[in-house]
Amino acid sequence: MWKPPERIKHFAKKGRVPDRETAENARLFQPVAIGPVRLKQRTWVPAMVPWRASEDGFVTPEILGWYRRFAEGRPGALVVEATGIRDIPSGPLLRIGHDRFLPGLKDLVETVRQGSDGETKLFIQLIDFLNIRRRPKPEKFFARYLEITGRHRDILGAKDWPEEKIRTRLAGLSGDEIEKILTVRELESLRYGYRERVTDTHLPHIRSLPGVLPGLFAGAALRAKKAGFDGVELHYAHAYTMASFLSALNDREDGYGGPREDRVRLPLEVHAAVRKAVGSDFAVGCRFLTEDCIEGGNRVADAAYFATEFARAGMDFLSTSRGGKFEDAGQPAIGWAAYPYTGPSGYECMPQYISDAGGPFGRNIEPTAKVREAVRSNGFATPVVVTGGIHNFQQAENILQKGQADIIGAARQTLADPDWFLKLRLGQGEAVRLCEYTNYCEGLDQKHKQVTCKLWDREALDGNNAALTNDGKRRLTAPVWQRR
Ligand SMILES: Cc1cc2nc3c(=O)[nH]c(=O)nc-3n(C[C@H](O)[C@H](O)[C@H](O)COP(=O)(O)O)c2cc1C
Ligand code: SF4
Repeated sequence: MWKPPERIKHFAKKGRVPDRETAENARLFQPVAIGPVRLKQRTWVPAMVPWRASEDGFVTPEILGWYRRFAEGRPGALVVEATGIRDIPSGPLLRIGHDRFLPGLKDLVETVRQGSDGETKLFIQLIDFLNIRRRPKPEKFFARYLEITGRHRDILGAKDWPEEKIRTRLAGLSGDEIEKILTVRELESLRYGYRERVTDTHLPHIRSLPGVLPGLFAGAALRAKKAGFDGVELHYAHAYTMASFLSALNDREDGYGGPREDRVRLPLEVHAAVRKAVGSDFAVGCRFLTEDCIEGGNRVADAAYFATEFARAGMDFLSTSRGGKFEDAGQPAIGWAAYPYTGPSGYECMPQYISDAGGPFGRNIEPTAKVREAVRSNGFATPVVVTGGIHNFQQAENILQKGQADIIGAARQTLADPDWFLKLRLGQGEAVRLCEYTNYCEGLDQKHKQVTCKLWDREALDGNNAALTNDGKRRLTAPVWQRR
């Protein structure tokens, strides 16, 4: 993963730890309404893909174990990982694109209900993503994948050559020569793997996305309601389809790209279709970026505009993230696909402890505060969830007291210690295991390995029938907290 050149090391601290009475009176532990749903407290576990679904996208016992463990820490809300809305093979990513996924999802809802004694509200993140291929071996790329065009023939002076001869010629050229012959997109496919964009409107399935996506999201949301979830989070963040429609890089000319008003059109149409399908007694919100953190991408002013429009449309919550884009991702190894968290924008999304002077803790707080301020100044009270490097009570409570956000999200800190919110609430904050922000978990995610935390995954491997990873080397969930 890319790291800021300053390479300053920052260490998480417990800060001021509240006693039980102080915690109970803290804003962090006061209820908040998410549209029709009431959270018991303002603590939120954002979506995290643990790579534990079955190869065909079903809920597995390992998925149930992962969410049960978070539920035991009784956060106000828990968001289930990015879940695919289409009925297409997507590897071991959870799916909700067909009714056959319903029984497993119902089990998941029941598991969280039991694990938290009904205290934790459960949302599921709905995602659409475009095709991306692995970085090919150059010989394969030239032999099979590259489409030979008139441009190649012209530059090579090979108008009448048979295609095979052109492929062989190209495969034998140096890097410098190839750069002069291939287009920018062809070079990208060679060096990073082929990747579709929402702006590839010459492809019929990309051109028709605005006609297709509202129905797919609505169908998925209705299934989530039938499975018993309390709400859905529309994934409008990071490197995926909906965030790409919002992005300033989207220059589609069909009314769904270009100016902000047109870039937000599809996300609003998706929301309208979802709301129509699920009614008003089910929470619908979205996760989106305060900043794309790439050249030419969205800035806070864009996010403030989008957030206001989402609130105006009646979304029940707004959850922010930042960065996580393909545009500046590092080059993957041959045989691997590009991963959107490997460049500077990826760093902004999941900053680790080696950082710049700003540090990894709370890089998204100020931008989120600006977005929230825009929503409030337009007269909307929609609750805003902030996430990014938040790991102690003082930091969380300050954010809420200052009105920078309404709900505190913590992903890695909750992976490091699923009971941390509960420990704070009970006045036992000294027992919190702090995340070290080394991104070991994110490295596992990148390799599509079952995600665990390095602070507990080798602990008591043979005790209490701990469920282990496929290779038997790591435990899959944090050991149970022995309460005082
Ligand atoms: C292993 C892992 C998987 C993640 N999966 C998702 C995901 O499915 N959807 C999403 O919106 N964010 C995902 N994220 C990003 C987190 O939700 C969060 O925004 C990010 O880790 C920064 O917050 P933190 O500093 O509290 O960890 C993931 C993060 C990690 C570490
Ligand atoms: S592995 Fe654990 S300690 Fe390291 S960043 Fe992930 S959650 Fe934090």
